[in-house]
Amino acid sequence: MSVRYDDKSERFILETANTCYVMQILFDKYPVHLYYGKKDGCCEVSYMNPYKSFSPYFEEHGQNYSPDVGMAEYSYFGSGDFRITPLRIKNKNGDSVTHFTYDGYRIFNGRMELPRLPYSEADSDTQTLELSLSDSVSGCRLKLFYTVFPNEDVIARYALVENKSGAPVTVEKIMSLMLDLPTSDFDMISLYGAHNAERSFQRVPLFHGVQSVMSRRGASGHQYNPFTALCSKNATEREGDVYGFNFVYSGNFLSETEVDQTGFTRVSLGLGSENFSWLLKEGDSFMTPEAVMTYSEKGLGGMSRNFHSFVRAHILPPEPFEKRPVVLNTWEACYFDIDEKEMLRFAKSAADAGIDMLVMDDGWFGARNNDKAGLGDWYVNKNKFRDGLKTFVDRVKAHGIKFGIWIEPEMVNPDSDLFRTHPEWCIRCTDRESTLSRSQLVLDMSNNDVVEYLKKSFSDTFDGIAIDYFKWDMNRHMSEVGSPALPPERQGETAYRYMLGVYDLYRWFAQHFPNAMIENCSGGGGRYDLGMMKYSTQIWTSDNTWPKKRMKIQYSSTLAYPTAAMSCHVSNPRNICANPDELKYRWHVALNGPLGYEMHLPNASDEIKETVKAQVAAYREYEELILRGDFYRIFSPFDSNYYAYYFTNAERSEFLLSFEQSYGESASRVYLFIPEADENAEYLDTVSGEVFSGKTLTRGIEVKTKETDPYSVMWHFVKK
Ligand code: GLA
Repeated sequence: MSVRYDDKSERFILETANTCYVMQILFDKYPVHLYYGKKDGCCEVSYMNPYKSFSPYFEEHGQNYSPDVGMAEYSYFGSGDFRITPLRIKNKNGDSVTHFTYDGYRIFNGRMELPRLPYSEADSDTQTLELSLSDSVSGCRLKLFYTVFPNEDVIARYALVENKSGAPVTVEKIMSLMLDLPTSDFDMISLYGAHNAERSFQRVPLFHGVQSVMSRRGASGHQYNPFTALCSKNATEREGDVYGFNFVYSGNFLSETEVDQTGFTRVSLGLGSENFSWLLKEGDSFMTPEAVMTYSEKGLGGMSRNFHSFVRAHILPPEPFEKRPVVLNTWEACYFDIDEKEMLRFAKSAADAGIDMLVMDDGWFGARNNDKAGLGDWYVNKNKFRDGLKTFVDRVKAHGIKFGIWIEPEMVNPDSDLFRTHPEWCIRCTDRESTLSRSQLVLDMSNNDVVEYLKKSFSDTFDGIAIDYFKWDMNRHMSEVGSPALPPERQGETAYRYMLGVYDLYRWFAQHFPNAMIENCSGGGGRYDLGMMKYSTQIWTSDNTWPKKRMKIQYSSTLAYPTAAMSCHVSNPRNICANPDELKYRWHVALNGPLGYEMHLPNASDEIKETVKAQVAAYREYEELILRGDFYRIFSPFDSNYYAYYFTNAERSEFLLSFEQSYGESASRVYLFIPEADENAEYLDTVSGEVFSGKTLTRGIEVKTKETDPYSVMWHFVKK
């Protein structure tokens, strides 16, 4: 049993393989938080006393409980908790004050479904605790859910509010997760960035006050990722306490952390309150998206591996093919300049190199000769593909490879047939001009007519054609957010309803094209989140494929997300790199996730073609480790001139070790340790053919840095 109520101590206890979460109902009314951390450190609760504060406290409890300083499971705006509060409801009296008290609980196997939202799948070990609360004045009810995934040390949190007040109320803020911790002796890790520079690593000490990351862009965005972590000051890759938090959602979010007057820390994660409000009629309910949290005493690496296993087991869709396809993507080689003849040259060169799939990027549809026109018109451009899409795809497939295609369903160019017919189908505010970006507007996916139109349009174009892969892009954020299809009192729901419409369309794709996989993309990795990972086998990590920058983006992406989802391409735009050694460096950097190529392979030299062929063949030897192995980081490219890491299998009989140097560095010695290796065994490095003793692996493999730039080394150790 991973969830239980202990009658003797009157506590709820949630247990995973290595962690424990404890709460209690105080005075039969208030769910208070007692503990979250390692299992054997359970329930040291001396810090809970006394509960009183300067103001306010509940006199009927002899000053023993104050909402101002107490550790709570969830908290409510306006009733004496002055810290960040996860719930604010404007009730029928016009004020936004609520105070919920405990009514009862339920423990059940499995989990609640979250209608129209992505969420983690339960397995036979999953259990859920549901706490029921109510507020007698506003007439609202609240349910808090804790879904426990014992094998991965993850607890998912979500909440439901129901209106039983007899009149409409407005939910102004409702967060999925709140966690109080009895210390602020933490650093906070967050991933900030920009287009072409996603997920930079930031680690800073917590300070008194509120620190937050968020998105108001209608997408999770390149600028801040929804993942954050709190780690003890001395936490390293291998040691120290680390709490990780993430959100299974792809739109606007808010992750807030506050250090309060007593030095305690509160974390809150969810939809936030900007760009969000929800009108709740009598009898209606609102369910939040899901947030997930994990704890590890094994440092950042432990926290990451918890999330990696969790996402692989409970979030990512099932593998669509026996082998994850190595792709050749046309974007960086051709941009919009594509036609059947050229694409068939790509198909042949891909097949010759042992590449599994041609991905035809932007430029194949409508009047799409540049980014100024065509989005929304999802029919093939007959000037470029005279015999139509089906015949073309059949010709590609005659080369014995798979076929993928680029789409950007959520967007429209004003210069398109779709916009000319339905100008009212865009996200916009009444009477206000909409700002263009990349010459495009955002379709109003909150309007079901738009979603249904898109289904029909894609069905008309792709039905009966064996498409194996969709690259689903999203190339701008939302401004002037409003929906022409919603009444004024529901405009605050637009961005959230937009995401529900997007998820509806994703689910439709999965059902309608069951043999195809989706690679998500948003100007590179602008929607690199768990919501998208629910529907996409992999995500295009960044438009920045320059290896020195890419290794940083990849390093930080692995903090929260499994390498199985991190699409990594060897990029050689316009074939400027004609040197096989440099291509080897690019390939080493790309071996951090599922492999692909962005280059003009048909025009490449024979030497480069042979190099690519050998790389693809070698990748096949490693891909099981890369897609499903345990991942250990050694050096961070943010702290050093190197990125180093290894993958290993469950039996620890294989290690794929990688060392990548960013810039030339003269004569330093660097040691790479693999403590999981067996000291008494020998290992064959299949790359060099040399045999290494297990002791060498555990005590450090020496690398001499090189002045030459670039430089990288890889070892594939197999236990003899
Ligand atoms: C975005 C993507 C690129 C490419 C272009 C096509 O920028 O990130 O990979 O697909 O759109 O327009």
